[in-house]
Amino acid sequence: MRLVFLGPPGVGKGTQAERLSKQYRVPHIATGDILRAAMANKTPVGLEAKSYIDAGKLVPDDVIINIIRERLKEHDTKEGYILDGFPRTIKQGEALSKTLEQSGEKIDRALYFELPEEELVKRIAGRRSCPACKKVYHTAFNPPPQEGVCTCGTALVQRKDDRPETVKERLAVYRNETAPLIQYYKERGLLSQIDADQSVEAVAKRVQDAIFQKKSS
Ligand code: AP5
Repeated sequence: MRLVFLGPPGVGKGTQAERLSKQYRVPHIATGDILRAAMANKTPVGLEAKSYIDAGKLVPDDVIINIIRERLKEHDTKEGYILDGFPRTIKQGEALSKTLEQSGEKIDRALYFELPEEELVKRIAGRRSCPACKKVYHTAFNPPPQEGVCTCGTALVQRKDDRPETVKERLAVYRNETAPLIQYYKERGLLSQIDADQSVEAVAKRVQDAIFQKKSS
């Protein structure tokens, strides 16, 4: 199972990828998480990525493509993986296709999650995450048992790039640079469109249907 999860910021890609990854025991490879870990550890990649992420811009293609090429060489990817947040530009999509071709592999499906912009903004505004165990909550839609505290006991935080001024920029970047990938995967017969304007469980059901029916939109 080699899947690409595509869609705007805050649509719920990470939430669904995490569930599916546990269910099928394939790694959830989220470039956003990899970059945030690099930033926290102050690695050279993290230091380079910080200014882009804080401004809501994309990290340069070459940096991300290298990260993914290295990650896909790891042993745990042999049975498949879920790519969440990669590719994000046509250049990244082409690089992924080329890398897979070289090893005789291919993407099975690209799932495109759709949600009206006003709902995206609500989901992003209420997102809180745990800096220790990385669990993601929502203040209204998926609140923690104790307000502001993860079940692991750590205080929840809001991502710096989830502040309204940066979110506006991220949405614009998505429209200009990432949305063209919808057509890219459609033309290759790999795209499934998922209506993400449902509960987490209902979206998960649609994800299953898309993977197993392999319907092209
Ligand atoms: P990244 O971390 O990938 O951010 P994103 O794509 O903007 O996606 P999000 O993490 O915001 O949202 P999501 O769709 O995963 O939603 P979630 O499940 O959390 O990237 C961050 C930055 O890193 C980028 O801006 C860029 O700078 C850089 N970067 C990353 N990849 C890159 C690449 N390939 N190239 C270049 N730069 C790159 O859900 C959101 C909220 O909604 C949560 O609170 C959740 O609990 C809630 N929720 C989820 N589903 C539902 C539901 N069905 N109903 C109600 N609430 C829900």
